[in-house]
Amino acid sequence: MKSAKLSTLFMLYFFTVFTFANASLKTGYYHSSCPNAESIVRKAVNKAVSRNPGLGAGIIRMHFHDCFVRGCDASILLDPTPGNPAEKEHPANNPSLRGYEVIDEAKIELESVCPQTVSCSDIIAFAARDSAFKLGGIRYSVPSGRRDGRVSIKDEPTAHLPPSTLNAGELEENFAKKGLSLDEMVTLSGAHSIGRSHCSSFSDRLYSFNSTHPQDPTMDPTLAQQLMKRCPRPSITDPIAHLTLILQIGWTISTISI
Ligand code: HEM
Ligand SMILES: *[C@@H]1O[C@H](CO)[C@@H](O)[C@H](O)[C@H]1NC(C)=O
Repeated sequence: MKSAKLSTLFMLYFFTVFTFANASLKTGYYHSSCPNAESIVRKAVNKAVSRNPGLGAGIIRMHFHDCFVRGCDASILLDPTPGNPAEKEHPANNPSLRGYEVIDEAKIELESVCPQTVSCSDIIAFAARDSAFKLGGIRYSVPSGRRDGRVSIKDEPTAHLPPSTLNAGELEENFAKKGLSLDEMVTLSGAHSIGRSHCSSFSDRLYSFNSTHPQDPTMDPTLAQQLMKRCPRPSITDPIAHLTLILQIGWTISTISI
């Protein structure tokens, strides 16, 4: 119940935050140029997410990681060229970001039906919405007409994406730089109702927090105990924990007093 409500709010904000920023976007942008654009994306998402629901989580995260770096311009999709390492190689994206193949499949299909018409950034935005619908029954329309960028720089996510080590105040600051309020940050974090995290993303808080406290003392002890079971001592195998487990007791959000 609680997470469903959170997710609905989160989608509402996705819509306002990541699409309203550009006033020239409009819903049904491809209505005449490529009438089936949105249904083609939806079909690719439904097929992939039916087989592996985790891909839906991956695509929603991809939308976030795309939009926070250079705006929603599909820079996350650009492959590196010799001497030009790209965003997708940044540790925040590699190896954990998933779902690229779903976007690729939709793009291939769209190119065969309406060549050079539908931007990859719109495909990601549609696909994130379709993932939220497929996984959570959340419905919202996505204004479109984004144009794709041609630049992707490996180091840029460092300055824009919030690392998992930030505390609540630092997260608030990070989102404020994108014009997002504390409320919006908490709401968008509702995306963590689904998906997974690698143990390496939070194991410092369990085993090597600082010189006086090996474990983060602000962490709920029950949560810490459960996570230590999932994530025995930092290991090269780097297992995963389900975000629902983490969210139930509270991660990120738990540190905010609201
Ligand atoms: C508030 C700051 C945020 C931080 C610090 C953060 C951090 C993280 C981390 C560390 C992971 C786990 C990655 C891994 O180890 O595999 C993750 C997963 C995820 N994040 Fe965030 N995130 C934030 C905000 C968001 C936002 C705004 C969205 C989308 C609206 C989002 C969507 C997701 C999703 C869906 C997953 C699961 C991905 C999967 O299962 O493949 N996150 N996040
Ligand atoms: C370690 O973290 C705890 C809790 O935030 C804090 O009270 C303590 O002062 C920190 N120790 C050091 C050496 O920073």
